Amino acid sequence: MSKMPQVLLILCFAGAANALYKQWIPNTNYENKTNWDKGDVPCGSDIVQFSSQRKVSVFVETSHAVQEMMLPMDGEIILNSGAGFYVVAGQDPDCGTGVKTKFKNSEALQWLNPTLWQTAATQNDLLDGNFLFSVHEEMVPCQQDDVVFKALSSFRVDTSSNQNTIPVKSLSVLGKVFESKSEFSEYLSSDSGQLQFHGSSAVTVGNPGCGDPTGCECGNSVNHERICSAVTCGSLSCETPLLPVGHCCEVCGAIVTIHYTDGFNLQNYRERIRHLFLILPQYKSIQLGMSKVLKPQRLMRIIPYGSSPEIQVVILDGETGKLSEALAQDMIQDIKAHGSKLGITGADIQTSSEPGSSAGTVVGAVCGVLLVIALVVIVVVLIRKGVVQMPPLPSMPAMPSLPTLSLFKRNINVDDDLNGAIDRGFDNPMFDKPDMLSNIPGVSSTDSIFMTQTGVHFVNPAYDENETDFTV
Ligand SMILES: *[C@@H]1O[C@H](CO)[C@@H](O)[C@H](O)[C@H]1NC(C)=O
Repeated sequence: MSKMPQVLLILCFAGAANALYKQWIPNTNYENKTNWDKGDVPCGSDIVQFSSQRKVSVFVETSHAVQEMMLPMDGEIILNSGAGFYVVAGQDPDCGTGVKTKFKNSEALQWLNPTLWQTAATQNDLLDGNFLFSVHEEMVPCQQDDVVFKALSSFRVDTSSNQNTIPVKSLSVLGKVFESKSEFSEYLSSDSGQLQFHGSSAVTVGNPGCGDPTGCECGNSVNHERICSAVTCGSLSCETPLLPVGHCCEVCGAIVTIHYTDGFNLQNYRERIRHLFLILPQYKSIQLGMSKVLKPQRLMRIIPYGSSPEIQVVILDGETGKLSEALAQDMIQDIKAHGSKLGITGADIQTSSEPGSSAGTVVGAVCGVLLVIALVVIVVVLIRKGVVQMPPLPSMPAMPSLPTLSLFKRNINVDDDLNGAIDRGFDNPMFDKPDMLSNIPGVSSTDSIFMTQTGVHFVNPAYDENETDFTV
């Protein structure tokens, strides 16, 4: 009786560790050079211009000298503590004669643009710049992810998508974390919320995190087209490019597809691969993304018959894929040796250097074999009866994906496996850091933001049809 709640607790914990953090990269900060049409932050001799018609939420970190400032009709300037504007009498000697400089348009930045997000496993990793690679669909926040807009910054994002809502687990803006649906929809209707988020779909928070230790599907495939419309694919230099599930472009590299049981733990396995392989000098240039995807199933790699959840590991090396293949082979060796302990029943490799490489097929599902046998029997019977005519066989590799042997027993004891997952015993540096959440700058220092909640909101009273000059 008393064992059950314990097990549940552990599962919940493991599940909680499975969500990823997705951080929005662009900002509408005054100090960011790329936000100004002259490519520089305005100085004391300059005339600063915000387009009158544009909605904008600007974060100002420090204090700035300006000559003159034109404000938009509807907008807000959020001042960090100590930030502000002042006027220099005459010319600012450090600034030259002065120019008229415009704040650029950030109207077109799309939530569903994968190039505008960074992914990390923890908040610390976000701060340290330890970002994870993933397929394009998963670069954009998944439904179980925590979304982060950097603490000392503002932004404007178009949340149009193919659905009415964009569900996520939590979302933080200006250092405040929203986890409740009602609280965030209230924020969305506030002045700041309306300036920061626009578009046809509403972001909703409070979606449950990933409660499945084996991982959760991202849920962004409904928006695949929109996501990929923002991506430009590079040219490839390999024989057989691969198309990972959820990716917009073909790649040169390797894909390891892992078949798992309930004892599998995605987060732990990701850490294992990092510790065993990715930290090795020879794999420095490797990009590796690992997630649960719905893989289309094909009999003999040709005939589609539905899809099943698998762990997809995408490995890229930026070149022909040889290095990726070496890592994939290393992973297969590791799976052969420890797979049953890790909750892995089998794995397939696809590489871009060897078309249809059969060497990589490690194991397979018994029922897969049975299905193939059944199909072969049916076809043979039909041919005998003259219903089907035998086509001339193309030079197909001899049933490369046919799983012929099962390395690991299918009837793995779940209890054993669960224990194995819990005290696997490879060292995880993330758990060695005490209170890793308490020392994140910006999270605890809410008092450094001046009027975080509302900002300094203004509807320009002096606005007229022409540009309003607001001299500070
Ligand atoms: C400045 O803004 C651009 C685009 O919005 C963004 O990519 C970049 O990371 C920002 N730089 C800083 C220092 O915040």
